[in-house]
Amino acid sequence: MAAYVIIQVEVTDPTAYAKYMQAANGTHDAFGGRFVARGGAITPLEGDWTPPRFVVIEFPSTEKALGWYRSPGYQAARRLRLGAAKFQAFIVEGLPTSAAPGVTSQSTEAVNLAQRFEMFSDLWSPHKIASVDDYDVKIVKVKGDFVEHVHEHEDELFLVLDGELRLKMPHGEARLRPGELFVVPRGTHHRPTAPEETRIMLLERRGVVNTGNVRNEQTRTEKSI
Ligand code: NI
Repeated sequence: MAAYVIIQVEVTDPTAYAKYMQAANGTHDAFGGRFVARGGAITPLEGDWTPPRFVVIEFPSTEKALGWYRSPGYQAARRLRLGAAKFQAFIVEGLPTSAAPGVTSQSTEAVNLAQRFEMFSDLWSPHKIASVDDYDVKIVKVKGDFVEHVHEHEDELFLVLDGELRLKMPHGEARLRPGELFVVPRGTHHRPTAPEETRIMLLERRGVVNTGNVRNEQTRTEKSI
């Protein structure tokens, strides 16, 4: 699972610190590290924690992060910053890969849809089970009427696994039975309904809101399972 090196820095000697940054640059490449944040603007929310400089580096694992930190290349750079900055750092583990299967090359675990459907019962509530590049794969249990809405900038793929889904659109109604899929193009108003409890899978670009342009009691933030 991924691991994050979190660093808080207070630079006391900018000239020496610049030399450190130059020497440290690229030392994490061989360990699969990449900067997630590097000295960006900080917006305080609560408390009095306002580090002057904050850095986050993502690694494939804690072992890789430690490997980078202990490497001769980074340790040589580190010596340049001793006395040039007050430096505090730790490693925090990311979520297990099972939270989002398929996003790491280490996973061999298949996603069993029947098992995933057992993990929730709320209706019209999308649950994310996988990611594909910038798209999320979600499963949903639906029954009854959903609010009419539109996604101005995203297409939306519906695949019915069991039951029946109807998509009412201005130009007509699509009726989907198990094993059938339909793509609602961006900009097309649609009102999903299901006469009985129906299980569907969605493929949507990350960040799509289930009620599109509408915010009401059916609006959900998807959960990962
Ligand atoms: Ni929609």
